[in-house]
Amino acid sequence: MFRSIKTLRVLTSCLLLGASGLAYAAKPALTGIGRAATPAEIKAWDIDVRPDFVGLPAGSGSVAKGQDVWEAKCASCHGVFGESTEVFTPIVGGTTKKDIETGRVANLSRLDFPQRTTMMKVATVSTLWDYINRAMPWNNPKTLAVDEVYSVVAYILNLAEVVPENFVLSDKNIAEVQKRMPNRNGMTTNHGLWDLKGQPDVKNTLCMSNCPVDLKIASSLPVSARDAHGNLMEQHRPIGPARAIDTSKPASGVAPNPGALAPAPSVVAVAPPTKGASGPSGPELSKKFNCTACHAPAAKMVGPSWTEIAKKYKGDAKAHAALALKVKNGGSGNWGAIPMPPHPSMKDNELSAVVQWVLEGAK
Ligand code: HEC
Ligand code: HEC
Repeated sequence: MFRSIKTLRVLTSCLLLGASGLAYAAKPALTGIGRAATPAEIKAWDIDVRPDFVGLPAGSGSVAKGQDVWEAKCASCHGVFGESTEVFTPIVGGTTKKDIETGRVANLSRLDFPQRTTMMKVATVSTLWDYINRAMPWNNPKTLAVDEVYSVVAYILNLAEVVPENFVLSDKNIAEVQKRMPNRNGMTTNHGLWDLKGQPDVKNTLCMSNCPVDLKIASSLPVSARDAHGNLMEQHRPIGPARAIDTSKPASGVAPNPGALAPAPSVVAVAPPTKGASGPSGPELSKKFNCTACHAPAAKMVGPSWTEIAKKYKGDAKAHAALALKVKNGGSGNWGAIPMPPHPSMKDNELSAVVQWVLEGAK
């Protein structure tokens, strides 16, 4: 990735500036420090395998050998066929022969499809190679030999029916395999982190010289994230020019960043019910608001079972408030891709009581 950055500078004299940020503020134009990084330094940083296969070491590995590597070093966490949901979403599954033709995984656009597996999402085989090479096995990364990486990638590709059983993957044929990746046409770059009225929030023309200087660079904390980690003002380090804002109060007079997340419909923390409080009970509320259409006591239905939820958040002091908000606002991601709808009509005391009941095991 650093190949394109010709002038990667290595700052050697930061410490000479002293510990005070004031020195920095008083003398903004820093010249004559640093030096061009040496080729060896750049090489040490340049560890990725690119989609055009620059950076891919020569080597090869068969599906059969890959199965051995997989069973010895990967299956314990990912399942014999890459199907396990134990430690992570499955590696394989959800792709079809048709996807290999179209290059776009059809199941990705199905909201009711239970999982997004790695093979459904990954667009570039180089990424699969690079990620496994650098990060797996999770508990022992960077221990695979180059040929072991080739073979285990071949095995995964065979499980997904991208390559046949007798296939030997190598640096010579990997570009051909790329043409069969089920989601190869699924990558889009024409979007920002957030949508601004249908436009990405970051999209501009690259400018490297004589750039217009009337740009106003600013950032602001999205309203919904303001107090996510307590009051930032009490947490800043008193070094350098940056000072954190008081996030315990709402922003004053500052229009929220238009690109920021919309404020959550409810940001009021709901307290657990007081002991002996009267009002509708958990079972009554769960019927009244139809929670039982998606949640059962012990079995997973559309949503997780009450027992599973209680187990997951056992002893978690923040769970009550977080789950009350989640039930009110809806959302997905903690149990899978299927979202829970919002329940805007529920009153705070109802949210509080039903969530408390769930957390206590829905008895
Ligand atoms: C000890 C458990 C463990 C072992 C062993 C293990 N993995 Fe993983 N693997 C994980 C976890 C956890 C993640 C998710 C990591 C993350 O997101 O930070 C993961 C992620 C992955 C991913 C990326 C999935 C994605 O969609 O982002 C691939 C591919 C993968 N593993 C392949 C392998 C291969 C190949 C091996 C054997 C050489 C292996 N893993 C061994 C736990 C393991
Ligand atoms: C249309 C189906 C549906 C209905 C109705 C529904 N839920 Fe859910 N619920 C889900 C799904 C799906 C999830 C998993 C969401 C996720 O993965 O984060 C979920 C998750 C939850 C969780 C755990 C949230 C988390 O982040 O761990 C709680 C608690 C919960 N539901 C309570 C309720 C209550 C109480 C009601 C009724 C007021 C209700 N649900 C109604 C589908 C539903």
